[in-house]
Amino acid sequence: MSEINFKGRVAIITGAGAGLGKQYALEFAKRGAKVVVNDLGGAKDGSGQGTSAADQVVDEIKALGGEAAANYDNVATVEGGEKIVKTAVEKFGKVDILVNNAGIVRDKTFNKMDEATWDSVVNVHLKGAFCVTLPAFINMRENNYGRIVMTTSSSGMYGNFGQSNYAAAKLGLLGLANVLKLEGGKYNIKVNLIGPTAATRFTEDIFPPELFAKLKPDFVAPAVLYLCSEDCTDSGVVINAAAGYYSRSAIVTGPGAILSDGTRVPTPEDIKDNWKQIMSLDKPEYYYQSVEMFNAFAELLK
Ligand code: NAI
Repeated sequence: MSEINFKGRVAIITGAGAGLGKQYALEFAKRGAKVVVNDLGGAKDGSGQGTSAADQVVDEIKALGGEAAANYDNVATVEGGEKIVKTAVEKFGKVDILVNNAGIVRDKTFNKMDEATWDSVVNVHLKGAFCVTLPAFINMRENNYGRIVMTTSSSGMYGNFGQSNYAAAKLGLLGLANVLKLEGGKYNIKVNLIGPTAATRFTEDIFPPELFAKLKPDFVAPAVLYLCSEDCTDSGVVINAAAGYYSRSAIVTGPGAILSDGTRVPTPEDIKDNWKQIMSLDKPEYYYQSVEMFNAFAELLK
């Protein structure tokens, strides 16, 4: 079995001063990557900032004999994204790997949601991924190589009470990845998503202590490292990772029901009468891109 290594590779990990990002940064560095450790250094809700979180991780990497540079910019601004990528290019010459991991939470039930709370969370997760990925993607295209991981969440894929802002942003990242996998395809840029479950400050008041103890970020890192390796040729997939369990989630389409030959418009009653078949997820199809879905419809309607 060939060993996965990142010698000669440059990795940017956003939000790498703590939690999952810190673990990724250490593991990439242990396997030879030069790592940009980005972290704004604020609290779980995004308030405040500081340099010590990123600095400490850089020190840890250097103590292990690795190479790393700190960056303290905010992922949620275009300027911040450019500076993060500039740090990689100026210190290490390029960007091969980007893990969009930085995140905050500001939970509120939707009836109490206000614009500032919505924007702050969407800006860090979704706009942040845009701001950092754009300059990184341009650099990767020039080098004909790139591995990008977005961080999604079961909150977005399935819903989680009180997290409308967070869930919307997290699933928005799937849409972004779905397009970048196509636009990056011919440049050997693979864009995948990790759906982690891990014991961090994000989850310390959610999981019971016995479960929290099992959910070390260490268990998520191997999946992220594989997705960022040369060996990974898949693009656009969501991998869930938690405490030694790994699985794939995907948006799939059921077999459906043909209720017309294309000349008669079905009635709402036809929909009601065929609801079970329309709702069926028996033998679902996964489409790599939307044109495949249109083609499948065209075939069915022939
Ligand atoms: P964490 O709070 O330990 O780490 C997030 C890091 O991002 C912090 O160090 C923080 O300073 C940094 N950060 C926040 N806003 C930033 C900004 N604007 N610019 C730069 N850095 C910023 O949380 P955790 O759990 O490690 O989360 C990492 C990612 O994983 C997040 O995207 C989170 O949404 C996601 N996630 C985590 C889950 C879990 O079970 N811990 C579950 C699902 C998703």
